[in-house]
Amino acid sequence: MSLLEVKDLHIWFDLERGGELHAVQGVTFELAAGERFGLVGESGCGKTTTILALMGLLPPSASVSGQVLLDGVNVLARGERSVAPHRWRDVAMVFQGAMNAFNPVKRIGEQIAEPMELHGIAEGREARRQVGELLERVGIPAERAQRFPHEFSGGMRQRAAIAMALACKPKILLADEPTTALDVMVQAQILQLLVALADDFGLALVLVTHDLPIVAQVCDRAAVMYAGEIVESGPTDALFHAPRHPYTRLLFAATPDLYGTEEVASIPGAPPRLDRTITGCPFRPRCDRAFGRCVGERPALKPVAAGQAAACHLNDVPQEVPA
Ligand SMILES: Nc1ncnc2c1ncn2[C@@H]1O[C@H](COP(=O)(O)OP(=O)(O)O)[C@@H](O)[C@H]1O
Ligand SMILES: [Mg+2]
Repeated sequence: MSLLEVKDLHIWFDLERGGELHAVQGVTFELAAGERFGLVGESGCGKTTTILALMGLLPPSASVSGQVLLDGVNVLARGERSVAPHRWRDVAMVFQGAMNAFNPVKRIGEQIAEPMELHGIAEGREARRQVGELLERVGIPAERAQRFPHEFSGGMRQRAAIAMALACKPKILLADEPTTALDVMVQAQILQLLVALADDFGLALVLVTHDLPIVAQVCDRAAVMYAGEIVESGPTDALFHAPRHPYTRLLFAATPDLYGTEEVASIPGAPPRLDRTITGCPFRPRCDRAFGRCVGERPALKPVAAGQAAACHLNDVPQEVPA
């Protein structure tokens, strides 16, 4: 049994101006214990919304359907209440922009201890000891627990955010754009740290990013999201060397250099709005290989190779033999 199974997850937001926005449109994936899985795509594709659902942290304006199975138990069955016991304990998250989310008037150590206290794992002196240990583990001297967030650099705050996510020894760590806004050297250090921690703690990692080289470096498998759905998934190697969706191909082509030192050339155009019904293939307006069928029929995610699936009508067309 998979550690985590997400089945046909849909998430809608009620909009204040009326109507709704279909942010997540039938997302399905699984995660094995200790696996490192990437969730990739441009901004606005539904990555953050998907993983917030796994933490039971969507705003009240959201409605959800589908299943999120943790060790086979559907934690969405009774809404917010059923996720709460698992939050931080089984599934923890480093939030997008987490390094800027610490309370400025509370010491770092107190903030890292909060999830431990919440779950009755440790308090007082024992909590402080464990916080010290966690800080050391993420590369921060234990005595810095007494410092305030503004006394830390961006990279150090991100390390502290990771320590906080690990406070309850979760099985799954969701990391949402953990290196965005850090400089390249620091990015590399944070990624190394995440990989080392995943190994040490036997963590399964879901790494959410718009940055493909990061996924290629860190993840065993990945899913590419576009317009709220997964359009391709498979082993990272296959996505890199044998992509079967034009979006995946263009995403990789748009990242010329594995270490992110060059400016990334973006794909012309933008993802479609999710507050309107999409007919046909959501990627069609930006696709250099779209044909008639792409206009009226939305492609389903189908197996295309071992462990690889793609949602593109081109995979139904016999491939041309190169001359
Ligand atoms: N609280 C919200 N209310 C309304 N729309 C939202 C809310 N949060 C996210 N969205 C919309 O949902 C879509 C997916 O957003 P998000 O999950 O943040 O994407 P990503 O993390 O891939 O950038 C976007 O169109 C975004 O504007
Ligand atoms: Mg996001």
